[in-house]
Amino acid sequence: MPDRPVRLIAMMNQKGGVGKTTTTVNLAASFARGGRSTLVIDLDPQAHASLHLGVDADAIERSVYDVLIDPAFDVASAIHKVNDRLAVLPAQTDLAAAETELAQVPDRQRRLEKAIASLNGKYEFVLLDCPPSLGLLTINALAAAREVIIPMQAHFLALQGVGKLLETVKLVSGAVNPRLRVTGVVLCMHDTSSTHTREVVIDLEKFFEEARRQESPWRFARVLRPAIRRNIKLAECPSFGQTIFDYAPDAPGAADYGALGESLLKEWDALLAKRGGEVVVLPGAQAGAPKG
Ligand SMILES: Nc1ncnc2c1ncn2[C@@H]1O[C@H](COP(=O)(O)OP(=O)(O)OP(=O)(O)O)[C@@H](O)[C@H]1O
Ligand SMILES: [Mg+2]
Repeated sequence: MPDRPVRLIAMMNQKGGVGKTTTTVNLAASFARGGRSTLVIDLDPQAHASLHLGVDADAIERSVYDVLIDPAFDVASAIHKVNDRLAVLPAQTDLAAAETELAQVPDRQRRLEKAIASLNGKYEFVLLDCPPSLGLLTINALAAAREVIIPMQAHFLALQGVGKLLETVKLVSGAVNPRLRVTGVVLCMHDTSSTHTREVVIDLEKFFEEARRQESPWRFARVLRPAIRRNIKLAECPSFGQTIFDYAPDAPGAADYGALGESLLKEWDALLAKRGGEVVVLPGAQAGAPKG
């Protein structure tokens, strides 16, 4: 029986404030609640994911910065345990300097990939919280990941941004990571009562449907369900350093991230069973997942 493969997911959108960090932290917590050992890697100098998971960036000595700058650095020494199954490799504001410090380094795009490999499969899920830019930190995430999940709000302009994002994924996939695949979009701060929102989701689904006809990293991408409703508890919990499951387990935000995590885990396990442990292009046949 081979070791369970690591599911490496980059949460990416160059647009700011769309729900990347909220989704990274609470989806990771959902996987952990499902019994899976899960690591969040905070790749954003704003260090919001670290804070959300209760790590005060000002009070730590080691962070993902050390991991990227020094290939000999012991990655595990910078990881903080959140609970039995959830851990975080935190960021600090100095992470912003890594982009310039690494500018001349030949393997600069692969530093994170190598660091994750050195963890030897200790975590079954590794979720990468990207900053709102397409710079070297995001490129490191895309080079390391097998999958991209795009948190977004269903607005017309956001849809245009997705085109640019997919071009970046294609470039990185062609240059450094041919196995990279876009799993889909998570609709964040979702408001089903708005006609505009519904139209944007229909457009998005049409776009992904058409993409199935030809080879691309997003050939099997889809709108993941359920959508995450706008819920004030999700906005409150970061300041308490808690995930939604600890802060407000009965809130709609916990129900939505719980259900999304469960559906991804179910699909993942079915795929593993079918492929005898070999991973992981999510087939289009799974695209008709339950609608939320
Ligand atoms: N479903 C939701 N309901 C209500 N508020 C939300 C929801 N999702 C996220 N928020 C809030 O919206 C703001 C932006 O979310 P978040 O920080 O996750 O976005 P981001 O894409 O990571 O931002 P950045 O690009 O700055 O990293 C935060 O204040 C967050 O608490
Ligand atoms: Mg963020």
